[in-house]
Amino acid sequence: MGSLSLLSTVAKRLEGKVALITGGASGIGESTAKLFHHHGAKIIIADIQDDLGHSVCQELGPKDSSFIHCDVRDEDAIQNAIKSAITKYGKLDIMFNNAGIVDELKTNILDNEKYNFERVLSVNITGVFLGIKNAARVMVPARRGSIISTASICSISGGAASHAYTCSKHAVVGLTKNAAVELGQFGIRVNCISPYVIATPLTKDPFKLEIDEDGETYKNVYSNLKGEVLKPRDIAEAALYLGSDESRYVSGHNLVVDGGYTIVNPAFGMYTSHAS
Ligand SMILES: NC(=O)c1ccc[n+]([C@@H]2O[C@H](COP(=O)([O-])OP(=O)(O)OC[C@H]3O[C@@H](n4cnc5c(N)ncnc54)[C@H](O)[C@@H]3O)[C@@H](O)[C@H]2O)c1
Repeated sequence: MGSLSLLSTVAKRLEGKVALITGGASGIGESTAKLFHHHGAKIIIADIQDDLGHSVCQELGPKDSSFIHCDVRDEDAIQNAIKSAITKYGKLDIMFNNAGIVDELKTNILDNEKYNFERVLSVNITGVFLGIKNAARVMVPARRGSIISTASICSISGGAASHAYTCSKHAVVGLTKNAAVELGQFGIRVNCISPYVIATPLTKDPFKLEIDEDGETYKNVYSNLKGEVLKPRDIAEAALYLGSDESRYVSGHNLVVDGGYTIVNPAFGMYTSHAS
């Protein structure tokens, strides 16, 4: 049985829920929009890439999805996106703060400019702050909701990306914890997801990674877990869990999806050769 036909035999896990996904026009957000929709959710995609956003919604169908142009750095735009979820579908159950950017890696801190540092933080953490804040505005009166944000393995490891990106993703975890503490009293759960490297437009050019023949994976990226390659769909599955009622008692959590990358120090090399 194919994986999609297998999927359609299981219950829809987001039936009746409404989800707003920032950065939903591409990569992880796009994959999540499709998986959430498959599980019965109504989808609002909020992104700055209008053509891509519209084309994802066209695939999902105009009844169940809509695109809204939204720059997550702009509070009015976030409010407007949330307002359109309420106007179109009557509520907001899941807020997925997923939009993010990377900057060029400059390995000497002296070459890192303040302007660029602030540019990365403005999308990756101020955008998440505005998303959580304005989702809370409508979720608190409803006394329910699931807020999810995309962090990164850079939220717990140093040396895997630029200073700005690493700071921004550490901050996502801090904000997730603080917001979970505050919003728990209203039945709202706040979590984040930390992916390892995935082949999406975000990583393709800046990290100059060589793409494999399948067009979906990178060559020569260190992996602790062999035999599987991380794809956007894996993060969508993590978001599906956090958005669904199956995670109803999970809050303040950083769900790391990295095949064990961040728990191993390869310098020890104790378990590298194992006789099969
Ligand atoms: N790809 C990876 O290896 C990886 C690993 C860890 C974490 N992440 C995180 O996953 C998230 C999604 O990234 P992706 O890999 O799917 O990349 P992507 O480039 O495919 O998608 C990011 C989306 O965010 C949108 N976006 C960028 N700036 C925005 C803004 N100001 N307002 C609204 N939308 C904006 C883009 O238009 C794009 O559609 C990001 O937060 C990223 O930091 C990615």
